[in-house]
Amino acid sequence: MDPEATLDAARERISACEDTEALKDLERELIGKKGLVAAMLAEIPKLAPEDRKAHGQKANALKQSIVVAIANRAAAFSSSQLETARRADDFDATLPAPLADRGSLHPITQVTRELEDLFLSMGYEILDGPEVELDHYNFEALNITKDHPARDSQDTFYCDEIGTLVLRTHTSPVQIRAMEDRTPPFRVIAPGRVFRQETTDASHDHTFYQMEGLVVGKDISVAHLIGAMKTLLRGIFGRDLDVRLRPGHFPFVEPGFELDARCPFCDSGCSVCKKTTWIELLPCGLVHPNVLRAGGVDPEEWSGFAFGLGLSRLVMLRHNIDDVRHLLDGDVRFLEQF
Ligand code: DAH
Repeated sequence: MDPEATLDAARERISACEDTEALKDLERELIGKKGLVAAMLAEIPKLAPEDRKAHGQKANALKQSIVVAIANRAAAFSSSQLETARRADDFDATLPAPLADRGSLHPITQVTRELEDLFLSMGYEILDGPEVELDHYNFEALNITKDHPARDSQDTFYCDEIGTLVLRTHTSPVQIRAMEDRTPPFRVIAPGRVFRQETTDASHDHTFYQMEGLVVGKDISVAHLIGAMKTLLRGIFGRDLDVRLRPGHFPFVEPGFELDARCPFCDSGCSVCKKTTWIELLPCGLVHPNVLRAGGVDPEEWSGFAFGLGLSRLVMLRHNIDDVRHLLDGDVRFLEQF
């Protein structure tokens, strides 16, 4: 058997194969266990010893060439199968590709931006303050004495051994920085992240968001405070809501209040207001003279009001979210709802 002629014939038959099945059959016939090449190898013992080696080499070379020819034919099949699939009726190359997932603004960012717009329109400046804050600004200058319970390491993350650096526990330190940097009268808000060392649960997280407000001017009174808060409520809930003040104690305001608003979600009591028709909106008050002084403002000449709005709480109220920890989870299933 002439190996060259055999190879030519094999190649012809391989290219004549029309489908994978036929190619498989041919492969078996040519290089299978009982195939052509196997038969060639089986002849070896019958040959004269000096011819055996050359015969074996030829048979193996033939096998190699057939393997390559079959592989090429198989590759041609799979690309033409792809081509057929592309042409099939259910494949439309003009259809738009699936959309990439799109992000959205976090609900905290949304409410922050809305409030910034609202307060800008009322002539407030928007301030930022450091999240790693000096004890002086976070406590001392805010009239929070060394023995005040809020100083307890339970509530505060300390950043150094000697306790001069803390993660700010509220946005109130920006009040002092604001006073140091400007001369009254002025109005500022300072939204941002705050930190507390506490056990987390559905209503407490170690990291949350607040927005501080501070207005300093001549003869600022509780009436101004209530007016500003009513505007705030209109901005948040889109309508006028009655408010009431209850006494509240914070070392940096005197008098200090808890401001409640009529529940925006019901008339006669619901789960949000816990059947009381009032919701706790924010703590606020008139700036304590010691705090004005700490900020370099003369309390004989100037007065002011301040408030501390819980942004995380507000977002929870607004969207009826029952667990504050969702706000920091980064779980897309939660976030994509906004
Ligand atoms: N800083 C207070 C807190 O985080 C909240 C607060 C209370 C802020 C009264 C104020 C205020 O500006 O007047 O608990």
